[in-house]
Amino acid sequence: MLRLKAGGRLRAAIKNSLPREGEHVSIHWHGIRVPNAEDGVPYLTQPPVPPGESFTYDFAPPDAGTFFFHTHCNTAEQLGRGLAGILIVEGDEPEPYDTERLIVLRDWTIGEDGKFGPFLTSEAARAGTFGAIRSCNDMIAPDIAVPASADVRLRILNIDRTRNMQLGIEGAECAIIAIDGMPVSPFPLKAWFTGPAMRLDLAMRSPAEGRATLYDYFAPEPVPLAHFRSEGPPMRPRAFDPAGLKPNPIAEPDLESAERQVFSFSATATGAPVAAGAAVPEGVPAILLDDLCTTPQTFWAINKRAWPGRDHSLLPPPLATLRRGGSYIFELRNTTPRIHPIHLHGHSFKWLRSNKRDLPVHHADTVLLLPKERAEIAFVADNPGDWMFHCHIIEHQETGMMSYIRVA
Ligand code: C2O
Ligand code: CU
Repeated sequence: MLRLKAGGRLRAAIKNSLPREGEHVSIHWHGIRVPNAEDGVPYLTQPPVPPGESFTYDFAPPDAGTFFFHTHCNTAEQLGRGLAGILIVEGDEPEPYDTERLIVLRDWTIGEDGKFGPFLTSEAARAGTFGAIRSCNDMIAPDIAVPASADVRLRILNIDRTRNMQLGIEGAECAIIAIDGMPVSPFPLKAWFTGPAMRLDLAMRSPAEGRATLYDYFAPEPVPLAHFRSEGPPMRPRAFDPAGLKPNPIAEPDLESAERQVFSFSATATGAPVAAGAAVPEGVPAILLDDLCTTPQTFWAINKRAWPGRDHSLLPPPLATLRRGGSYIFELRNTTPRIHPIHLHGHSFKWLRSNKRDLPVHHADTVLLLPKERAEIAFVADNPGDWMFHCHIIEHQETGMMSYIRVA
């Protein structure tokens, strides 16, 4: 875990010490509005880092909140094996909470033989491959000690490659205070749907005694993910009334003048790339094919275009080009019977509405699209560069549901 203060600079070197030839790496700072060159997408924003070599990232995160970082190459496997970290940017608490706990949720894909994998299977054409072992902070349903009757900030991250979770807490009063690191004015937690890469900050009033439990309700039986055990004398006798967090400096889109763009997320029924042949523009430099990172199979597409290959070495033209500084409304249409957490790099957008759910307006960097859902998000395209736009179920991403948006 890296922690820094808002306004501070992060200088971080990645050194590729992976033993396998051709296994390149990069770091993407998920949810951080970095300058494009620091975004960590091989071929698109930087050269991939081959074994034995290093790359240094250097940026000042503009927003406080709960973020994470992960490799953006051969992601199904590298993230599956654990190549991810947590990035906390401090400075959003006008009134500090009594204490905080980090809750990192993910599966581990480990077979009966004790070996990792497989990370990409034919389940890629459906919901994706789930791990056999579910974990919180790399433990199975740990017991986490918290002070009794205290206001505890829980920074919850779903960093799994595949699993959508409906999170709720029993045995304690809770309010949602931030979504994807971005503050919302506190509202009571019932259950909140998080897809891979999504984060949820809660204020939890720990019980006076005994324990509270974090559950995933998106399962045949609720799955306990962590327990919070109260310890010591009660800290706060008064009623639960959590303070909100300071807003981040995100530009407000002008909804009246915003340009609307429609993106449809679909399955490619035949398994063949929808736009094969048309996808690679002329003048793209010699293609560096890396057999670890390529697969001929695609199952998914955005606006009928399937991304060619599993990695980023074959760059198609951008899916859309936005005017720098312009306001945009994206209408995201899920035409499939699957859930897709759709992530846009380099920006935080505002969730406006959907035809299926009534969620409060909030900022986010990843939006969960339920089956057949149509959601609208809005943002100001104020960060110039080429920004990945993809499903964060990594097997969907690596079998076609990936693209990028140019802000110029
Ligand atoms: Cu966390 Cu391109 O993703
Ligand atoms: Cu998906």
